[in-house]
Amino acid sequence: MAATDLERISNAESEPRSLSLGGHVGFDSLPDQLVSKSVTQGFSFNILCVGETGIGKSTLMNTLFNTTFETEEASHHEECVRLRPQTYDLQESNVHLKLTIVDAVGFGDQINKDDSYRPIVDYIDAQFENYLQEELKIRRSLFDYHDTRIHVCLYFITPTGHSLKSLDLVTMKKLDSKVNIIPIIAKADTISKSELHKFKIKIMGELVSNGVQIYQFPTDDEAVAEINAVMNAHLPFAVVGSTEEVKVGNKLVRARQYPWGVVQVENENHCDFVKLREMLIRVNMEDLREQTHSRHYELYRRCKLEEMGFQDSDGDSQPFSLQETYEAKRKEFLSELQRKEEEMRQMFVNKVKETELELKEKERELHEKFEHLKRIHQEEKRKVEEKRRELEEETNAFNCRKAAMEALLSQAMHATSQQPLRKDKDKKN
Ligand code: GTP
Ligand code: MG
Repeated sequence: MAATDLERISNAESEPRSLSLGGHVGFDSLPDQLVSKSVTQGFSFNILCVGETGIGKSTLMNTLFNTTFETEEASHHEECVRLRPQTYDLQESNVHLKLTIVDAVGFGDQINKDDSYRPIVDYIDAQFENYLQEELKIRRSLFDYHDTRIHVCLYFITPTGHSLKSLDLVTMKKLDSKVNIIPIIAKADTISKSELHKFKIKIMGELVSNGVQIYQFPTDDEAVAEINAVMNAHLPFAVVGSTEEVKVGNKLVRARQYPWGVVQVENENHCDFVKLREMLIRVNMEDLREQTHSRHYELYRRCKLEEMGFQDSDGDSQPFSLQETYEAKRKEFLSELQRKEEEMRQMFVNKVKETELELKEKERELHEKFEHLKRIHQEEKRKVEEKRRELEEETNAFNCRKAAMEALLSQAMHATSQQPLRKDKDKKN
């Protein structure tokens, strides 16, 4: 067979054949089926708000979703940053949205802010871990699983007009591989238009020079490429939040009223609130969810599985089966366990030997002490014996002397009693 024929056959095998249908079959309704299934299932969307206490996080959330979420104000005296998630069921037309707003309470209030980012990173990782655990279950129920992975982090920048604080840079850097960050300048009505323009340029410059990756609205889908490209150039959005309604002309609009005028939240000449709402909710909500799953969660999952010892291929690009990896890991674990057991046994034996030696040493010392005391005791006993003997001798000598004295005394007495008789005899004579 000629070489060209072989090529043709192999090409024909690898390329799918296109067939034209004789009539309507119906698989063009597949997208509608997907939409219908998704609508029935409902959606979840999770927003993380990071920003100083009182920067306007809750007000902005209320303004964004045109409702009043119950929130409590944070004090400025939190000992550390604490994450507070709150979930709400929202419905618009027939679409159900499970919205979770996570507040980083007490952010920026501590004197030492070195670890302020850590509880936030831990929270994000914990949501990834929960999802991974669900995926690894034998009986998974991802269909009705409440996905709490953070889809977007709204990072509230204080409108100083100066530059980013190091806390902002450090936190965003730590978060950028874990979550889609959209930076926003909060309370933009407190800074003049020209200052705001310079501030935006400065912020973007600082983010780039510090290698912080913020979320870029996707430009690969033709339908939204143009608007997203324009909006990317507007980042960070400068927003104003308010739930107060003010009469402007003959319309009631959400605005902040000042002695010098009214700042309208939904007026694009006044702030970027509408841009944020459009980008976050109407145009890119699905992309944010998708990026969370395919980029951030994927990275977490890969690192976690590699940490557990799983690999897709060995050094020679030979694919590893899960079974083999598991077996290898199990063997490694068992031999490690055995090694540890042996180590502990050896340690125990050594400890017993050491204790035995110590006890023997103590026994020897005690014995020596006992011998010493015994010697002292015998010496003292000998001395006491000697003293007793001396005393006995003294007593004997004393008794002898006493007897001699008594004898002398009786002789003397006898002699004196004889003398008057002799005198009487002499007188008679
Ligand atoms: P904590 O939850 O306590 O950390 O505060 P927060 O960040 O949720 O701030 P919150 O929305 O409670 O707003 C704090 C104060 O800032 C309130 O008095 C708001 O009226 C005011 N505020 C909110 N948004 C804006 C804004 O865009 N501009 C101005 N000037 N003030 C605002
Ligand atoms: Mg709040």
